Amino acid sequence: MHRSRRRFLQAVSLLASAGLPRAILAAGQQPSAAPPLVGRASSFDPWIEIHAANLRHNVREIATRAAGRPILAVIKNNAYGMGVTDAARLLEPLTPIDGFAVVKMQEAITLRDAGVRKPILLMGPFDEANLAEATARNVSPMVYTPVGDALDRVSAKRQRAIPLHICIDTGIGRVGVPHTQAVSLVRDLAARKSVRVDGVMMTFAEDPDLDKEQIRRFQSVCGDLEQQKIVLGRKHTASSFGLFQHPAAFFDMVRPGMALYGVYSEQEFRTMGAMDLRPAMALRARVAYVKLLKPGESAGYSRAYVAREDVWVATLPVGHADGWPRAATKGARVRIGADLYPVIASVSASHTIVEIGREPRVKIGDVATLWDWQAGSRPEDVSAACGASVYDLTMHLNPLLPRRVIA
Ligand SMILES: Cc1ncc(COP(=O)(O)O)c(C=O)c1O
Repeated sequence: MHRSRRRFLQAVSLLASAGLPRAILAAGQQPSAAPPLVGRASSFDPWIEIHAANLRHNVREIATRAAGRPILAVIKNNAYGMGVTDAARLLEPLTPIDGFAVVKMQEAITLRDAGVRKPILLMGPFDEANLAEATARNVSPMVYTPVGDALDRVSAKRQRAIPLHICIDTGIGRVGVPHTQAVSLVRDLAARKSVRVDGVMMTFAEDPDLDKEQIRRFQSVCGDLEQQKIVLGRKHTASSFGLFQHPAAFFDMVRPGMALYGVYSEQEFRTMGAMDLRPAMALRARVAYVKLLKPGESAGYSRAYVAREDVWVATLPVGHADGWPRAATKGARVRIGADLYPVIASVSASHTIVEIGREPRVKIGDVATLWDWQAGSRPEDVSAACGASVYDLTMHLNPLLPRRVIA
C-alpha cells in the first residue's frame, strides 16, 4: 500500500501565477450571514466548528466495524484539534465509548476537572509524583518499565490497587517494553497487590510486512501469559489504521483517533467501503480584504506570486499560527460561497491569500472554508491537493481558536 500517513507528500502542483494588487472594497463593510460572535474573537477571526452529529455518526461506524467492541477514544493532542474537553463531553454519553486515551498529564487532569467520569488512560510518561496525582484522579497509567516498587508505594498510600495498561513494543521501536522482555515485566507487575492489569496494548508500525509479525509477537506474549493464568484485561492494538487494515487484531477493544473525527488517515481508505467517515470539524474564517492586482504586481513575502493579468485576490485572516499549513500554497483550495479558490503566494503567520480571478466574486466578510465536511473541501482533499498530512491539518490547530459546536 502507498503510505502517506503523517508525512508530507510530494508537492503536487505549484500554482501558475496570474494577476496583481490594486483596488480595494469599502472598509468597514459588514460581514454577511455571520455566525454569532464568540467571546472576544473578531467575527473575521478563524474559528473551528464541531459537527456533533458527524462525530456520533463516526462512533456508530467504528462500533459497527469493530463488531460492537468497546472504543477507547484517542483524544490526545487536544482531541486532534477539536478541543479535549469538547470532544470528551460529546463522546462520553455514547455507549460504545469505553474511555479516553491522552498523552499529556495536563489533558488527563483537565478532563477530570471538567467532570469526565469514564476511564482515562495516560499514555505519556510520568514520575512517581505524577503517578500519585494521576491515580488520585482515577487516571490509569500506561506502563512499560519496571515501576512495580513505585506502584507499591503509591498504592499503599491510597489503600487500593492501581488499574493500568501495559504497552508492549512488538516492532515500532518507541515506547513499550520490548516483546522479548514483556512476559517477565507483565508477570512481575500482575503479581503485585498494588496492580490491576486492565489492558495490554501495542502499536502497529503500519508496514504491511512488519504488521503481521507484530500481531504474531503480541499473540505469542499474550498466549504465554494467559497460559500462566495471568489476567491481562483487554488486549488492544487497533488505531484508525488497524481498523481499516487489521480486523484480525481488533482483540477486545479498538483505539482509534483520526477515524473518530471522521477523517480517513490514508487516501486509500476513502474508497475501501469499510467505514463511511464524516469529518466532524471545520476550519473557517472571513474574507478580510479583496483587491485587484494589475499585471506585474505581486502578493506575499518575496513576491511569491506575480500577476500576469488583472486578477482579484482575497486575503483571509488565517495563517500557519492558526494551524493552516504553509504547504497550502502547493495546491490547496479554499471554499468561498459555492466555489473553490486556489491559495497563492505564501501562507504567513496570520494571512492567506486566494486567487479569485478576473471578477471580484467575493467580498469582505464572506465565510471562507479552509476545510470541512463537504466533498472537495474535506481534510483529505486538502491533503491530496497540497501534501499536508491530515494529522497536520487537524492536530496543529491553535488551541486558542474559538470552537463552536453545531448540529
Ligand atoms: C498509542 C496510540 N494508539 C492509538 C492512536 C490513534 O491513532 P489514529 O489517530 O491514527 O487512529 C495513536 C495516535 O497516534 C497512538 O499513539
